[in-house]
Amino acid sequence: MNGVFITFEGGEGAGKSTQMKRLAVRLEEAGHRVLVTREPGGSSGAEAVRHVILSGAAEPFGVNMEAILFAAARSDNVQNIIKPALQDGRIVLCDRFMDSSRVYQGQGGADAELLDLLEQAVTEDARPDLTLIFDLPPEVGMQRAAIRRDGEVPDRFEKETLDAQAARRQAYLDIAAAEPGRCKIIDAAQPLDEVNRQVDEIVDAFLAYETA
Ligand code: TYD
Repeated sequence: MNGVFITFEGGEGAGKSTQMKRLAVRLEEAGHRVLVTREPGGSSGAEAVRHVILSGAAEPFGVNMEAILFAAARSDNVQNIIKPALQDGRIVLCDRFMDSSRVYQGQGGADAELLDLLEQAVTEDARPDLTLIFDLPPEVGMQRAAIRRDGEVPDRFEKETLDAQAARRQAYLDIAAAEPGRCKIIDAAQPLDEVNRQVDEIVDAFLAYETA
């Protein structure tokens, strides 16, 4: 596949979606062909599953059930949206991907072997080339997420405690330490423009290297 696959990861309220949209605009202005997608969702099959998961409807059936549903949504997005775009040579930007399952379902207590098998089965022909991990203290992220919701009820994962968010933060840092070539950590507590600058710097260096 001749495209480039970049994923955006991090805890709640880290600002990754805003940064991803800005990056998409900038890359398109620079003449790249870009495809933007998100998880859970992105394809029509996956968007149907998204509602089941985020409403909390699957929660009573346990974390393994949720992990399988996330994987089902991911599989549909990979087969119908991500892989065709990579084959077509596009830069694919995805708001959350397999690391979210490793972190959220992993920390939630899903079976580690099941998670590995699901990841292999679903992402084997579409692995991220670059992953930006937006890192920030959970209390800052939760505050931002509450402002963004503006009175709406929190979703299935937003309602969890500071401890859970702190464990997820650490799990992301562990992934970055284990895969330093793929994963780059961005300090998301900085002002938006500074975060933006860091994203541009990392992505430009990566694309220059890829096309060299
Ligand atoms: P979303 O509204 O897309 O929020 P965010 O702005 O935080 O990305 O919600 C997605 C939620 O689903 C988020 O809380 C993380 C969670 N999630 C998982 O638990 N596992 C996964 O594999 C993915 C993709 C998301």
